[in-house]
Amino acid sequence: MKIGILGAGQLGRMLAIAGYPLGHQFGFSGNTNNEPSSLLGHMFALEDNAEHIESLAVFSDVITYESENTNVETVREINKNVRVYPGEKSLFTTQHRGREKAIFDQLKIPCAPYQMVNSLTDLENAISNIGLPAILKTATEGYDGKGQFVIKTNDQITDAWNSMNGVESILEGFVNFKRELSLIAVRGVDNDHKYYPLVENTHHNGILRLTIAPAQDIDPVLQETAKDYMHALLDEMGHVGVLTIELFETDNGLVVNEMAPRVHNSGHWSIEGANTSQFENHVRAITDMPLGDTTPTHALSAMINIIGETGPTDIALGMPNAHLHLYDKEERADRKLGHINITASSQAELDSSIEKLSAFLPKS
Ligand SMILES: Nc1ncnc2c1ncn2[C@@H]1O[C@H](COP(=O)(O)OP(=O)(O)O)[C@@H](O)[C@H]1O
Ligand SMILES: [Mg+2]
Repeated sequence: MKIGILGAGQLGRMLAIAGYPLGHQFGFSGNTNNEPSSLLGHMFALEDNAEHIESLAVFSDVITYESENTNVETVREINKNVRVYPGEKSLFTTQHRGREKAIFDQLKIPCAPYQMVNSLTDLENAISNIGLPAILKTATEGYDGKGQFVIKTNDQITDAWNSMNGVESILEGFVNFKRELSLIAVRGVDNDHKYYPLVENTHHNGILRLTIAPAQDIDPVLQETAKDYMHALLDEMGHVGVLTIELFETDNGLVVNEMAPRVHNSGHWSIEGANTSQFENHVRAITDMPLGDTTPTHALSAMINIIGETGPTDIALGMPNAHLHLYDKEERADRKLGHINITASSQAELDSSIEKLSAFLPKS
């Protein structure tokens, strides 16, 4: 099939790399001809043609998107002629933190206390209900911790509201978590569901730096609870494709943070670490192929992000159990340029492999 991707970044690139062996072709829509996916398929670029999205739709048998910030109206228009997966409900819900929280409430999935905020008075009111510390986040468009303000004391309230630039925001109570986890699953057109194991994520300055898969010392009850939440969300949204939920592990169990209607940075380990990667499974799902087995291929895997500068990648190339993935992006502070996957048969092997690659991890 011809698969059209709205976006042309590293996620589109890795979807194409996974999809070619299955016999598919790819087209992308992006802003320039110099993006991670540009040379991996037909490029429908904004500067070439104002109707580039329409051209992409004509090219495609099915369309998917790289980002939850994709315009819902665009997807609705395309969907009149070509199927878009995940569908409009998944996109509409996940691109707005308030709508996301509302669906968590509806499905009785625990999340942080929250209140929508449109003014300084709203914020003061929300703080009197939720208390401090709390996090103020823009309702839409945030990523890698951008558009967020942690409010610890009352004298920060005005600064916090000013930093939102007047856009609709959400105040969330601060969750005292032990660890951050995520769960990735995929649902097919035929309603088949498959789940990857819970993984553990370490962030630094709001950016994911390290994923360990599967997360260690997870009570089986916790894994089942996370699966139940995921199952309810997949079904409620009629989701087709990969869905990711980010969770906090707390002393009182799981608290869901947010979700993404797409392949996720915390699932990149699955390229070498699972029988079928998240990318291949997303492609299989949206093309109505049977879903692939999600079982890990090794006792443990890790994914280290390459952020800002490419760094000493030869170290990874010299390790039998490390796999380098670069996205063909130019170096820039805080930019995701690639990642290194590690596979290991024991915790000791994983620890020593991560140590060898410590140049790629933040110092503090
Ligand atoms: N309510 C919260 N309580 C505690 N930490 C939070 C909360 N919300 C977010 N964080 C921290 O900030 C990070 C980024 O927030 P998140 O909501 O996931 O936004 P983004 O869309 O930028 O990933 C989270 O991974 C977590 O470390
Ligand atoms: Mg997040």
